[in-house]
Amino acid sequence: MRTQVAIIGAGPAGLLLGQLLAKAGIANIIIEQRSRAHVLSRIRAGVLEPGTVALLDEAGVGQRLHREGLPHGGFELCIDGRLQRIDLQALTGKQVMIYGQTELTRDLMDARAEAGLESVYEAQQVEVLDFDGRQPGVRFVQDGRARELRCDFIAGCDGFHGICRASVPPALLTTHEKVYPFGWLGVLADVPPVSPELIYVRHERGFALCSQRSATRSRYYLQCDSQARVEQWSDQAFWDELRRRLPAAEAARLVSGPALEKSIAPLRSFVAEPMRFGRLFLAGDAAHIVPPTGAKGLNLAASDVAYLWQALADFYRGSELGVDHYSQRCLQRIWKAERFSWWMTTLLHRFPNQPAFDARLQEAELSYLIESAHGRGMIAENYVGLPL
Ligand code: FAD
Ligand code: DHB
Repeated sequence: MRTQVAIIGAGPAGLLLGQLLAKAGIANIIIEQRSRAHVLSRIRAGVLEPGTVALLDEAGVGQRLHREGLPHGGFELCIDGRLQRIDLQALTGKQVMIYGQTELTRDLMDARAEAGLESVYEAQQVEVLDFDGRQPGVRFVQDGRARELRCDFIAGCDGFHGICRASVPPALLTTHEKVYPFGWLGVLADVPPVSPELIYVRHERGFALCSQRSATRSRYYLQCDSQARVEQWSDQAFWDELRRRLPAAEAARLVSGPALEKSIAPLRSFVAEPMRFGRLFLAGDAAHIVPPTGAKGLNLAASDVAYLWQALADFYRGSELGVDHYSQRCLQRIWKAERFSWWMTTLLHRFPNQPAFDARLQEAELSYLIESAHGRGMIAENYVGLPL
């Protein structure tokens, strides 16, 4: 087998890169270790920045997103039981789009199938080879048979637990990591959202987030113990706890129902530097993780992909500049998103054994910012993200 770009991983990063490269006339094959159905069953992100939406339009996969996505011109922060709105539209002139990662992945998979582009699902024992030379490759097992794919470049879009970053000699890689002492318990349910906009709640019992997927489907999250297991949380316990963390009017309005999906995500900040090793590029969660509070993970994956696609298109037109600057360009943006995500997480969550003094400072910092136009503007600008 031979192609120009071998893409490892069919998450949003890999699929979007494949689509953009194909539009630029660059051949690519995606190698994914899971089944298509498994990839589609993962319920994750919900908020797309305007830059991400523009990139999806450019890739030609924005039709259903514009039809079914929910444009949001603001969100609520709930501090001490009081709702305070961050008016994204007024403060930045921009809106975000609520559209589930699952739907986006489905659109990208459909577009790929329609364009007749090759993907290998359920690939076993995936290995990346010779990326420090001119003829890199990928070895894997498909339906019990060993296969080898030769290529010009490898795009490591295989998420945090993938093999691409793990294949880089440790001496070439610097990693930065912070693990938070709590997780998020998420529930997806076919109930109408409690509020027209997202609500991020800081509460003495812990953080909560009210999000949504449509007028009839809601996505809620609760800060939980980092050791917690999903089986310990019945649906009833989840709804009861969410009600406790919401202001009285929202708690009274909250409609509960059976969980369609329930899962726990750990919270971590992580950056691997650099993001290019010869002919191997890392993109998305393979290179960095943000805690989900700032809604940045999927959007960062999209911005890496925008830079990588442009770099590779330039390369095939004869310029290596984009390829050489890929890592630096991505990392500048990544560290800004890391900062915002860490900051939102630090101010909105309750830390175990947190001294009362620190909790009061959290509250004071949030109030200080929310009460000033400058502070609101700063939150809004970070939330809608930088243009690509
Ligand atoms: P992934 O989605 O992890 O995809 C990687 C793919 O590679 C997977 O399909 C995996 O099976 C495959 N793979 C792994 N190893 C191998 C291998 N060895 N060989 C072949 N394939 C392999 N982000 C936002 O922007 N906004 C949000 O609102 C938001 N909310 C979130 C809420 C939660 C609860 C969580 C957990 C995450 C959230 N995120 C959010 C983050 C977002 O989901 C991720 O950043 C995004 O999925 C990254 O995409 P990716 O393609 O880089 O990685
Ligand atoms: C969702 C997830 C987030 O992490 C976030 O900040 C906002 C929304 C969601 O899944 O809808």
